[in-house]
Amino acid sequence: MSSYTSYPQQFSVDFSFQLLCTRDAFQPGNDTLLEALAHPAGRPARCLVFVDAGVLKADPGLEQRILRWFTANGSDCQLAASPEAIAPGEAAKRDLAIVERIGALCLEHGICRHSYIIAIGGGAVLDAVGLGAALTHRGVRLIRMPTTVLAQDDAGLGVKNGVNAFGNKNFFGTFAVPHAIINDSAFLDRLPQREWRAGIAEAVKVAIIKDRSYLAWIAGAAPALASRDSEAMNELIRRCALLHLEHITGAGDPFERGSSRPLDFGHWSAHRMEVLSKHRLNHGEAVAIGIALDLFYAAAIKRISTEERDAVLDTLEACGFHLWDEVLELRSRDGKRTVLTGIEQFREHLGGELTLAMPDGLGQRADIHDFDDGLFEVCVRQLRSRVRAARHGVVGG
Ligand SMILES: NC(=O)c1ccc[n+]([C@@H]2O[C@H](COP(=O)([O-])OP(=O)(O)OC[C@H]3O[C@@H](n4cnc5c(N)ncnc54)[C@H](O)[C@@H]3O)[C@@H](O)[C@H]2O)c1
Ligand SMILES: [Zn+2]
Repeated sequence: MSSYTSYPQQFSVDFSFQLLCTRDAFQPGNDTLLEALAHPAGRPARCLVFVDAGVLKADPGLEQRILRWFTANGSDCQLAASPEAIAPGEAAKRDLAIVERIGALCLEHGICRHSYIIAIGGGAVLDAVGLGAALTHRGVRLIRMPTTVLAQDDAGLGVKNGVNAFGNKNFFGTFAVPHAIINDSAFLDRLPQREWRAGIAEAVKVAIIKDRSYLAWIAGAAPALASRDSEAMNELIRRCALLHLEHITGAGDPFERGSSRPLDFGHWSAHRMEVLSKHRLNHGEAVAIGIALDLFYAAAIKRISTEERDAVLDTLEACGFHLWDEVLELRSRDGKRTVLTGIEQFREHLGGELTLAMPDGLGQRADIHDFDDGLFEVCVRQLRSRVRAARHGVVGG
């Protein structure tokens, strides 16, 4: 006989949110943000706006456009304070200080759970502000306006936020569903080339594990993408965003309770390389190298053919990615490549059994639960030889 009495409980909560795509959201007459703010109570929506300082620098007129847009739409929504600048990139996610800052501003400006926090920026600022919004009053409504390719095709769509700690990416964070996401293509016009390219890696990633025809499309569009063709980029983002949303809303585990994280193909090493490079490598650049390593591994365990592997590597290179970085040469005291600590961190982060997403043929996925360090060493060497051969103009090296 058991020594307890159990009273099982169960309930479920429906979540809904929308992705809205537009151009020039803060031009007079653009009603996208009004649609996102749609307010059952009928009162003007109170908003606090946080903007990536890098975006403000690239677009000095943005703050004025935001102020003018809110003035013009004053009967529907109000700015509680002038937009606040947030340090760009990983600096925003350095520690939990951002949470206190957001909480203090919410207190000062009377932001409640029916108000809105609007986060405008790259994935790092969205992650950091998202955590602040999720923890203030146990959750203020969040509208994300992603401003990089990577944030529009991946980071801004998810149901996660986070900041870094103890040398680990996203060590602190919550699962929190945004109220809405607004992809504004005009932000991309001012992106530096590195940031323009970075988000393509996430599209290649999701195509490898979910959609072979999309992967073929990316291969064909690679030259246009590399030369900043906006039409091609908008299509890349649209398809990638929908694949991510389809996964989040339809795959049955939006809050990653299981040990599988299929959208993180290529990421176990990418997260480690970002940290090991002290964020010299941006997320997308690290993901491109992580994908390359995992493609070698997938070919070695016969999940894809070497021809399929090489075709995807060609696509990544045609988009302008460099598929090697010196951090891969770092070794721990025991002689193992330091990047391998990413495997253990990945397992700990998910909890339970090691689960790595791998392609099962291109366009499909099947998880693996064992990882062979020796085989990985072979893969690292193969990748290095390929990149060196390409640099020295050796075809098929
Ligand atoms: N929450 C998630 O599900 C998720 C998913 C993927 C990635 N991420 C996170 O996203 C982050 C990477 O995001 P990212 O690639 O967008 O880079 P980022 O946020 O680091 O931004 C890169 C740089 O671009 C600048 N920038 C942003 N928009 C600009 C614009 N329109 N014009 C000019 N400059 C602009 C920023 O100021 C910054 O200097 C990482 O921290 C990663 O861990 C989160
Ligand atoms: Zn990623």
